[in-house]
Amino acid sequence: MKTLFLMWVLLQMPTLFTASHTNSTSETYTLINAKNLAKPNCSSHCGDVIVPYPFGIGNNTNCSISHEFDIYCDNSFSPPKLSFVEDHYNSITRIYDSTLRTSNNVATGCYSSNGTYLGGFSISMGSKDSPYTLSDVNKFTVIGCDGSAWLSSETNSRNVSIGCMVFCSTPEDVVGDQCSGNGCCQSSLPKDINYYETELNPHTDSNNTRYMRSFNPCTYAFVGEENAYKFNGLTSLNDIHLAEKIEASVPIVLEWAIGNLSCIEAKAVDGFVCQYSNSKCVNSTRESGGYRCICDEGYEGNPYLSPGCKDINECHYPEKFPCFGTCVNTEGNYTCKCKGGYSGDPKIRDGCRRGHNTFLLAVWLAIEYLELTMSSTKESTSCQNSDN
Ligand SMILES: *[C@@H]1O[C@H](CO)[C@@H](O)[C@H](O)[C@H]1NC(C)=O
Ligand SMILES: *[C@@H]1O[C@H](CO)[C@@H](O)[C@H](O)[C@H]1NC(C)=O
Ligand SMILES: *[C@@H]1O[C@H](CO)[C@@H](O)[C@H](O)[C@H]1NC(C)=O
Ligand SMILES: *[C@@H]1O[C@H](CO)[C@@H](O)[C@H](O)[C@H]1NC(C)=O
Ligand SMILES: *[C@@H]1O[C@H](CO)[C@@H](O)[C@H](O)[C@H]1NC(C)=O
Ligand SMILES: *[C@@H]1O[C@H](CO)[C@@H](O)[C@H](O)[C@H]1NC(C)=O
Ligand SMILES: *[C@@H]1O[C@H](CO)[C@@H](O)[C@H](O)[C@H]1NC(C)=O
Ligand SMILES: *[C@@H]1O[C@H](CO)[C@@H](O)[C@H](O)[C@H]1NC(C)=O
Ligand SMILES: *[C@@H]1O[C@H](CO)[C@@H](O)[C@H](O)[C@H]1NC(C)=O
Ligand SMILES: *[C@@H]1O[C@H](CO)[C@@H](O)[C@H](O)[C@H]1NC(C)=O
Repeated sequence: MKTLFLMWVLLQMPTLFTASHTNSTSETYTLINAKNLAKPNCSSHCGDVIVPYPFGIGNNTNCSISHEFDIYCDNSFSPPKLSFVEDHYNSITRIYDSTLRTSNNVATGCYSSNGTYLGGFSISMGSKDSPYTLSDVNKFTVIGCDGSAWLSSETNSRNVSIGCMVFCSTPEDVVGDQCSGNGCCQSSLPKDINYYETELNPHTDSNNTRYMRSFNPCTYAFVGEENAYKFNGLTSLNDIHLAEKIEASVPIVLEWAIGNLSCIEAKAVDGFVCQYSNSKCVNSTRESGGYRCICDEGYEGNPYLSPGCKDINECHYPEKFPCFGTCVNTEGNYTCKCKGGYSGDPKIRDGCRRGHNTFLLAVWLAIEYLELTMSSTKESTSCQNSDN
């Protein structure tokens, strides 16, 4: 039994390991891969950004589900620039099934080499009326050696405010490249906010300012996707182009949903949109409510538009649905069997063996062998192993 448990742990380890490296949002990308992207006569692309319905390009053109989902596509920029028609954010760079990404603004406060504060600026994003909320994959990050920054917002009719302070007087104070101490401070956002303002407060009265500014001329504050930013210790503190680099690479992630009613509530009133085949309604996980439509498992497409979702032919996607035997697509699923006279696991390479179920036999033999070898090793060793 112990050996079996140990084997189970060992088998799980690669999955446990990779799980920690996947995106922290459970993001899915069904909509942008749909064939029915947009309503008839509506464009589905702005430059290389896909704009799937319920979003739509234009102002009150009926291409979107409602005015809040209207997207303005400005072709005078190259590449074209997307923004909400009711604009409170920067340009939109990606739209997925429950999230979207916008470009960033970094609040910056800089000093001259003699320690004089050259002035900085504050940032404000979103609005109190915005139907989009900041995802909790964003963090409030402050980089610098002498200052503090505040983020303020309002949630559930409460004013909220978080702060972050940075301090380092010598380069040696900045240890490694973790954003958890001198030089970099990171804080979670209040839950479910739809706007924020940041304010930088540099501490210009420090004795060490002049020396410190030689390795850190500016203080920065921004909100953005945690996984997209990596603090690089002194290199970051020294980098006079840091703000531009962050703005180019660290997006703000917003959550979207239809309205503020749950599925059950929305079904009972006019305008419920999850009505097409092979799809269903799911509650948004946001505190502010709302719902989304998703395809049933085994189906793909845009559930917000006729004709809804279609069966996935799994046999056409062997990378995603491996089958080394005979693959047969079924409605909403598929079957994968070893060819006649073979048996075993057809979903792994060389999993099918001729005749008896030699695969299972081999597994059984392997377990028996391990059991013998493990029982001859010391008890303490196997205890330690299973603890790990
Ligand atoms: C993480 O999200 C990005 C989009 O920002 C996507 O391209 C990438 O494939 C995702 N990674 C995983 C492991 O899901
Ligand atoms: C699309 O546009 C064409 C011409 O602009 C028009 O004839 C057609 O009726 C429109 N189709 C829809 C579904 O609006
Ligand atoms: C969108 O259209 C409405 C009229 O339908 C107009 O009042 C409004 O100014 C337009 N908004 C923008 C940003 O063009
Ligand atoms: C949008 O749809 C409504 C009702 O379906 C219609 O009255 C209106 O004229 C349409 N607007 C445009 C710009 O097509
Ligand atoms: C510091 O430098 C700025 C411009 O670089 C200058 O305007 C200011 O007078 C200097 N202050 C001192 C105290 O030297
Ligand atoms: C939040 O603060 C602002 C001004 O600082 C005030 O006008 C507003 O009423 C406050 N809101 C709440 C819900 O307390
Ligand atoms: C700042 O500098 C002054 C004069 O050099 C010194 O008297 C004082 O102790 C210093 N303060 C700190 C906190 O180091
Ligand atoms: C939900 O949305 C409706 C219409 O958009 C709005 O009137 C209402 O105040 C919202 N309810 C809450 C609790 O936010
Ligand atoms: C959606 O939310 C409503 C109201 O909070 C709840 O009654 C319902 O069970 C939820 N539905 C699902 C599928 O979680
Ligand atoms: C597909 O079939 C497999 C094996 O019968 C089953 O485990 C799985 O749940 C099915 N998937 C769906 C989406 O029905």
